[in-house]
Amino acid sequence: MEERRASEAGSFESRIAEHRLLDQGFGRFVAAASAGDAGQALEAIEAFDGEMRRHMEHEERDVYRGAGDGKLISRPGEDETARLAREMRLEHVQLRELSAMVCRLLAEKRDLLGALRLAANLARRWDSHTTREEREVFRSGS
Ligand SMILES: [Fe+2]
Ligand SMILES: [Fe+2]
Repeated sequence: MEERRASEAGSFESRIAEHRLLDQGFGRFVAAASAGDAGQALEAIEAFDGEMRRHMEHEERDVYRGAGDGKLISRPGEDETARLAREMRLEHVQLRELSAMVCRLLAEKRDLLGALRLAANLARRWDSHTTREEREVFRSGS
């Protein structure tokens, strides 16, 4: 049991480290987009998008599995853990959607300004998601 705890804490640490790497990747996109470099900006946001999806896929497999039936609507009698997992999965869906929209704006329209505007929304949601995850999910065992 102690071992399981320890390995869980270790994986939470590495997930938090991934959040910071993703923050940096997103920063590269903002820097390129702000400098008017659409090519670099697209490359950076596509890299962020891919890494973010992989990160979430692992969380949904390892952290948010088992809670509820994978549906995103609330069910009567849902307990606190299931509710939190459902809300986090719902935020994943919204984040993936927003990130895909930023990618499309750049890839299909080369719309740097539009991409930056939408990215500000993505940044706010990503920040609030990771903050909440780190505080309410990853710290809960300690
Ligand atoms: Fe997450
Ligand atoms: Fe995460």
